[in-house]
Amino acid sequence: MEKTFLMVKPDGVQRGLIGEIVSRFERKGFRLVAAKFLQVSQTQAEAHYAEHLGKPFYDNLIRFITSGPVFAMVWEGERVIAQSRAMIGKTDSLEAAPGTIRSDFAVHTNFNLIHGSDSPESAEREIANYFKPEELVVYKKLI
Ligand code: CMP
Repeated sequence: MEKTFLMVKPDGVQRGLIGEIVSRFERKGFRLVAAKFLQVSQTQAEAHYAEHLGKPFYDNLIRFITSGPVFAMVWEGERVIAQSRAMIGKTDSLEAAPGTIRSDFAVHTNFNLIHGSDSPESAEREIANYFKPEELVVYKKLI
């Protein structure tokens, strides 16, 4: 089953949106397989945003993601990577489609509430940056 890494960023946590965001993915039909409330370390932040190294917004990005607690999650489901990105909406809230998380709750590109993996390779790398393999649960049939 496909898995993705989603993270409510420090702005989402401080605005009290963890429940709202988790609820959207639960109602959609995805399954939560791991979750952790943590403060992102400098090392984790640099690994997470390695692809943005050298960009003008890089330093702010690292400072922001390490500035307060985040809610890191792993979700699984049918095409969960692409579908969760669609539910999150475009990076810039102005371009995010109505009904997406960023359109509904964000007003600024730097404070866009949530991160979602953009490919299977990113998902694998990002999950490993925050979780040990044994921290991911495996669902069994109820009966
Ligand atoms: P995300 O896609 O989760 O990861 C990279 C983040 O960089 C992005 O969210 C934005 O929060 C932030 N960012 C700030 N400025 C820009 C920009 N000009 N282009 C893309 N991302 C940006």
